[in-house]
Amino acid sequence: MIRVDLAHAADFDGWREAARRLAIAGVAPADVIWQTPDGAQDLFAAPAQALPEAPEGEKGPRVPREFPDLARYVICHADPARFSLLYRLLLRLQDQPRLLDHATDDDVHLANAMAKAVSRERHKMTAFVRFREVASEDGEGAFVAWFEPEHHVVRLTAPFFRDRFANMRWSILTPDVCAHWDRKTLRFTEGVSRDQAPGADRLEDYWRTYYASIFNPARLKVATMKREMPVPYWKNLPESSLIPALIERAEGRATAMVDAAPTKAPKRSPKIVARTEAARTPKEAGVGLDGLRREAEGCKRCPLWANATQTVFGEGGAEAELLFVGEQPGDKEDLVGRPFVGPAGQMFDRALAEAGIARERAYVTNAVKHFKNEPRGKRRLHKSPNISEINACRWWLEKETALLKPRLAIALGASAVRSLTGETHAVTKVRGQVLSSPFAGDVFVTIHPSFILRLRETEDREREFAAFVADLTQARQIAYGR
Ligand code: URA
Repeated sequence: MIRVDLAHAADFDGWREAARRLAIAGVAPADVIWQTPDGAQDLFAAPAQALPEAPEGEKGPRVPREFPDLARYVICHADPARFSLLYRLLLRLQDQPRLLDHATDDDVHLANAMAKAVSRERHKMTAFVRFREVASEDGEGAFVAWFEPEHHVVRLTAPFFRDRFANMRWSILTPDVCAHWDRKTLRFTEGVSRDQAPGADRLEDYWRTYYASIFNPARLKVATMKREMPVPYWKNLPESSLIPALIERAEGRATAMVDAAPTKAPKRSPKIVARTEAARTPKEAGVGLDGLRREAEGCKRCPLWANATQTVFGEGGAEAELLFVGEQPGDKEDLVGRPFVGPAGQMFDRALAEAGIARERAYVTNAVKHFKNEPRGKRRLHKSPNISEINACRWWLEKETALLKPRLAIALGASAVRSLTGETHAVTKVRGQVLSSPFAGDVFVTIHPSFILRLRETEDREREFAAFVADLTQARQIAYGR
């Protein structure tokens, strides 16, 4: 008997190297014990032999192109027999290169079924992992999720989260293995128990609201829902507490939707639209910033809402005296629902502190309140808003400004200048100047902090950061005379 010790439950590279050496040495599948650190200990009494060395220059077994892809998935299955199944297939492929085309062959059928189960589990992981924000020791914040996969899909699926949440620090904890991303490196550590994952917080409320809003009662099929969101996953999903009530109310809500559906647009519909629009305008007195924020949640003034997770409204108290206007939320802001919380926001916070501006004195918002992005593979690429999007969103900025009555507005970058003044200016030309806004009064112009982040050389970044702090200090002096 030869015992192969794999590094972890989904150790494809370890399996491949061992299988190559075993195949060269002509070891039969029945003579190999595949051992993983978490697997049951070897109960065979006979002492295991070491893995044979492959002679130098020996090429090893040949496989069709699709075999490694299949094996990468099969290896993540929870069945302990997966390693020997793959080794058996590898040996059989030497005599039957087209074996994988025979879907009815027992080994091929089993391997395909395992790969399919893993693929489904991978999909579930991308759909059902819910991050919760936690405080970290360095104060920077991080996101943690708890997930209990049926198969060993964490290593296979972690790159999806790395690409999707590249700007966040996150950990996905599972009983089997934990994945961690620190914005630079993806690492894996041993599994942990459920009680090491954080509990509920405000992100859960967000998911609940989101789920309730996308829940379409007319399309409710409980069996499909259970298949797509299997009951074992429900306990870790914040929105699962809503499901029984939503199902119960679904029939009534569906009937109401059918009753309410218009058959033909009435002639007077443009007038109705105009009136509804007017009714949606919050009455400034008594509604306040919170009312405005709630109102903006459903904003569809331009098409950008369709591709964004949520409206990211301004943040800060009604007593704030300085109004900072950025361009638009970025990827992280879009997910978290707050402005300037990503890398540019962290730089902005540091610069504010160095310029002696307390965050409570500042109201921070954006010219455009939805994240404009272009999906590219698994990433969402930032796209600058165009003039019509800036113009459509100015409606909100005007309302925010009217409620705040700031001493000074500070435009961070060209989109903010455009929104506040209605004019197009190159920031390099008007930086440090005070322009005039038809609704916000004086507007001090500086750069957008992401400009500094884009600089490659540390020296350039340090110089530009100092210049940005100097601008903010100047803005503070203009506002307060000191
Ligand atoms: N950039 C912005 O302009 N606004 C944000 O909220 C984040 C990044």
